[in-house]
Amino acid sequence: ETKYRPFPPVHLPGRQWPTRTIARAPVWLSTDLRDGNQALFEPMNRDRKLRLFDELVRLGFKGIEVGFPAASRTDFDIVRHLVDQRRIPDDVTPMVITQLREDLIRETVRSIRGARRAIVHFYNAIASAWRRVVFGMSVPEIRRMVEHHVRLLRTLTDDCPETEWVLQYSPETFCMAELEVSLQMCNTAIRAWDAGPGRPVIINLPTTVEVATPNVFADQIEWMNGRIERREHVVLSVHPHNDRGTGVACAEQALLAGAERVEGCLFGNGERSGNLDLVTLALNLYTQGIHPGLDFSDIAAVARVAEECTALPIHPRHPYVGDLVFTAFSGSHQDAIAKGFAARSEGDFWEVPYLPIDPHDLGRTYDSIVRVNSQSGKGGIAFLLQRDRGVVMPRRMQVEFGAIVQKHADASETELGSDELWALFSRTYLAPT
Ligand code: KIV
Ligand code: ZN
Repeated sequence: ETKYRPFPPVHLPGRQWPTRTIARAPVWLSTDLRDGNQALFEPMNRDRKLRLFDELVRLGFKGIEVGFPAASRTDFDIVRHLVDQRRIPDDVTPMVITQLREDLIRETVRSIRGARRAIVHFYNAIASAWRRVVFGMSVPEIRRMVEHHVRLLRTLTDDCPETEWVLQYSPETFCMAELEVSLQMCNTAIRAWDAGPGRPVIINLPTTVEVATPNVFADQIEWMNGRIERREHVVLSVHPHNDRGTGVACAEQALLAGAERVEGCLFGNGERSGNLDLVTLALNLYTQGIHPGLDFSDIAAVARVAEECTALPIHPRHPYVGDLVFTAFSGSHQDAIAKGFAARSEGDFWEVPYLPIDPHDLGRTYDSIVRVNSQSGKGGIAFLLQRDRGVVMPRRMQVEFGAIVQKHADASETELGSDELWALFSRTYLAPT
């Protein structure tokens, strides 16, 4: 049941249109506690991390990257606490990240053993600049390093059968690497893990630094999707960053190209210009009639928790959540919105002009939609007076009072709230003469 159309009702005679649409929500992975956390001025302390973890669970995330336990004592302790205190619901799988080094891998397994299910996230940079400049390693050397450490993880985890282990392999810098090299590394990991029934692998392809248009990323995903070995035992995941401002678009294109899982952070927190914004992507799907399986029905509460935990403010124009996104200042918009609300009947598709989503679905109200200032027209003014005071103005009166309001707003150079509007109306029409 949805009140949103999957795509605009455009008709192109004789043509199927659009050629592709996203049909279902991806598997979500929140990396707020890892990639999001590592990009903060002051990384979250234990209390803030646990608070955000609980919030992510409440929102419906079934995959949560909980930290980098071999790199941080705080993370190690938090992960152990989550496991030992049974704070992870049965349907939620925690993920822990590590570089490919034996001591780090051993410590990572120690941090999470005993969980019902756990994802160990391996990553190493593979693009040529990193191979040459950062590591001084050849492609065969890197391939052998991946193989060796995945085998080590297999041995270590075989010794802990009480946990259901999943390998995630991320060829970091994927978007800048030769595709053949990416494929070689991914297939090496898949084989070394011996992916098969009950032994899944997640192959996670990042735009570590976003360097191209979303269609280029989609082509890269499509190419990999067609060539990854043991594909039925592999979950194909993407991890977009937002350097060009197109992280969400990259994820959407990647889903059209065969990706099944998406990693990101609430409200786009993350390194530099951020990770993919999970909220925007989820609500984009929602407004296309696809329920994301995440609960944003009280988006202001989610924003409050995120802002308090990260100490980063959310921009007032942030899609869906910003303070101003359900506010119309211009008269023609206000008029159209008022007419859209008046014309709505139960069961209609959502079609209120200028509002891509029903604010009620996010726990927001219509209160701030119409604001009256010197730019406002008579429609918005009439809407507010009718809604808040039950005043129905005849058309000529709307025109006349609209001009009075504009003059008043111009002179005072401020906005008028509903109470001021009513006071002006009373002075103009109800005061004894
Ligand atoms: O952006 C990136 O490449 C990462 C990897 C660890 C997946 O965060
Ligand atoms: Zn990242």
